[in-house]
Amino acid sequence: MKLLNRILFLSLLLFSTFFHTNLNEIITAKFRVRQNFVNKNDTYRRLWSVEKRAKPFCVMECSRDIECASVLYNNVTKICQGHSVTLGNPAVAFDEPNTQYFVQTFGERYIGDSCVTTADCWTINTECRQGLCQCIPGYSFSPKTHECKVCVQYDDRNFMEVIGQYIIRENAEEFFSVTLEECRHLCLNRTTYLCVTFEFAYPEICAIQNMTKLDMPDKWYDSGGLQSTSHFQRDCA
Ligand SMILES: *[C@@H]1O[C@H](CO)[C@@H](O)[C@H](O)[C@H]1NC(C)=O
Ligand SMILES: *[C@@H]1O[C@H](CO)[C@@H](O)[C@H](O)[C@H]1NC(C)=O
Ligand SMILES: *[C@@H]1O[C@H](CO)[C@@H](O)[C@H](O)[C@H]1NC(C)=O
Ligand SMILES: *[C@@H]1O[C@H](CO)[C@@H](O)[C@H](O)[C@H]1NC(C)=O
Repeated sequence: MKLLNRILFLSLLLFSTFFHTNLNEIITAKFRVRQNFVNKNDTYRRLWSVEKRAKPFCVMECSRDIECASVLYNNVTKICQGHSVTLGNPAVAFDEPNTQYFVQTFGERYIGDSCVTTADCWTINTECRQGLCQCIPGYSFSPKTHECKVCVQYDDRNFMEVIGQYIIRENAEEFFSVTLEECRHLCLNRTTYLCVTFEFAYPEICAIQNMTKLDMPDKWYDSGGLQSTSHFQRDCA
């Protein structure tokens, strides 16, 4: 009996050592710690939020999800929060004590990451806009394949904003006195055509389109980021 207990104890010890080594390897091989989001929180492009009792389990949760590029972990509340982009702008984040931030290997210079020029953005069909790597207008963000592309199938939820640029007068429909959230829903629930982009003139004008910039390159207007109208392009499924 004693011997059996000892064997059991030893195998448990071995197992847990192995397990921990493995987890730490995952962290160091696949994730990099980012200092710019220490004690910060941002809900932009949040995929999920779950409780994990330690940091390695949180990081593992992210590595299991194909869409997860980065993860915030709060080591007091144990909240583990996955994101489909890299969070590159701590200036728009809010303070949240006890959080740490980890970015997957593919999340380096990925969509959302900070940049100075387009050369800083490594993802296909991205450019540096407003200091962040984003999809070039006309291409949709594809969280599953980690690129910006022409979609085969569209997502039923998310859009990427292009500030101060839009397609001139090719609207399929226009709506007035609606919020941005309502405009997004109106696009998603069109039934007679496929809505792939919409424009929102803050605070309340919504224009919906069945085309992207690639379909109408000569109808593209770029105010240089000054205009209070944004273009929204639907993500890929
Ligand atoms: C970030 O803030 C959101 C909204 O307040 C909250 O639900 C979430 O738990 C916070 N995330 C972390 C990692 O603390
Ligand atoms: C918890 O996170 C903070 C950063 O927010 C860090 O300074 C601290 O060392 C962490 N504590 C543990 C036990 O990991
Ligand atoms: C479409 O979305 C709008 C805005 O949220 C909503 O008012 C309307 O009821 C929705 N229509 C359908 C058919 O779901
Ligand atoms: C958008 O809708 C118009 C009018 O129905 C149609 O002529 C056009 O081919 C559509 N464009 C695309 C890209 O689907």
